[in-house]
Amino acid sequence: MYTDNIWNRVLDKLNFKDKKHDHITKIGEGAWHSVYKLDRIDSDDLVIRIKKKIAYGELQEFDENELITEYEATKAYYEQANKNHQNICPTYFRYFIEPDIVFTAETYMGKGQELALLEQTDGFAYGKKLGQSFNQIQTSKSEIKGFGNLHWNGTYLSGENQQESNKIWENDNNHYLMVLDSLNESRLSFNREIVNRKIKKLIGNRRNCAQTISLVNRDITPENLILHSGRVSIIDPSPKLDFDLKFAAYFVFCYQFLLPSYSNAPRYLHNTYEENKGILGEIAEGFKQGYFYSFSKDEYIVQEKRLMDEYILWMLLETYEHYEILNNTQPSHKVLQQMGSKEVIQNRLDLYLNELEILCSSFNYDT
Ligand SMILES: Nc1ncnc2c1ncn2[C@@H]1O[C@H](COP(=O)(O)OP(=O)(O)O)[C@@H](O)[C@H]1O
Ligand SMILES: [Mg+2]
Repeated sequence: MYTDNIWNRVLDKLNFKDKKHDHITKIGEGAWHSVYKLDRIDSDDLVIRIKKKIAYGELQEFDENELITEYEATKAYYEQANKNHQNICPTYFRYFIEPDIVFTAETYMGKGQELALLEQTDGFAYGKKLGQSFNQIQTSKSEIKGFGNLHWNGTYLSGENQQESNKIWENDNNHYLMVLDSLNESRLSFNREIVNRKIKKLIGNRRNCAQTISLVNRDITPENLILHSGRVSIIDPSPKLDFDLKFAAYFVFCYQFLLPSYSNAPRYLHNTYEENKGILGEIAEGFKQGYFYSFSKDEYIVQEKRLMDEYILWMLLETYEHYEILNNTQPSHKVLQQMGSKEVIQNRLDLYLNELEILCSSFNYDT
């Protein structure tokens, strides 16, 4: 709990002198922020997100540049999104960084409906809206240069990788083949012939269909999407520069498969993704329709296949990540919270390998 003293400072920093009339309630708690709603009389309600000093059981070091990077990236994503879709993200966003308190203030976007209370048709409709919005956000050109994670150099943000885009695309494709080689050389039991034939064919096709680098959002869990009264809002993004279709497929992959499979990790236990698997799947289906809304029926089939190829590649990467964690490192507390114990990780690895094999055999056409 925060003392009056802290709130005085927060309100003072924000230049809100009429403190007596403001009502502050706690509305949420993510892994990184404690979240409060500030009711205002004459303007929109705001959300104050106070950075936690301890996250995943570890004291967080104060790194000013890292904090600026995080919040400037959020700001850039909000601006990019609102450019195409007014008010899909908070329009007001400010941040304050001092050694003893770090917080952000942003527009309150409402209270989302619980997944469990959504009808299948609502899930599909929200997914479709999200698909359309993500498409528009990603297709509008970002002013941030480069590729990969974003960094603040004191003046502006840029991607950590400044290579030519065709070189980046080549490396991206090669990376999947390296991952495949590592799995081939492992002692894991899976049908190498089926998986290799499919992945190699798919990468061969992929090389000829270069994707566009865009500002994408990696943190699209239901806690960061507010669905209510037929509207969708996006909050707390984790932006980076990466390929557009690859990240459209990431959304579908998360909602169709990844989130339910993480239900047994301590971090996600309370999120009931497994119980809400049906509705998450509907959101994924709607997303595909929304993302490719501008295509005719025939073109849609082609695009959906390309997206499902990317989906298979995410399955490959996730499988590899689980394998690597089990083999190379002593999982940190954070990893154990996010992924589960070694036994849970092992079981999930078996599930992923099995799923990878199924995907590679059922999508084994030669186009
Ligand atoms: N702008 C906002 N409008 C409405 N609710 C919000 C807003 N920001 C955060 N919340 C609520 O607080 C929860 C946690 O906030 P979030 O910013 O995602 O924290 P963290 O960075 O720790 O993940 C969200 O899931 C949401 O319920
Ligand atoms: Mg969050």
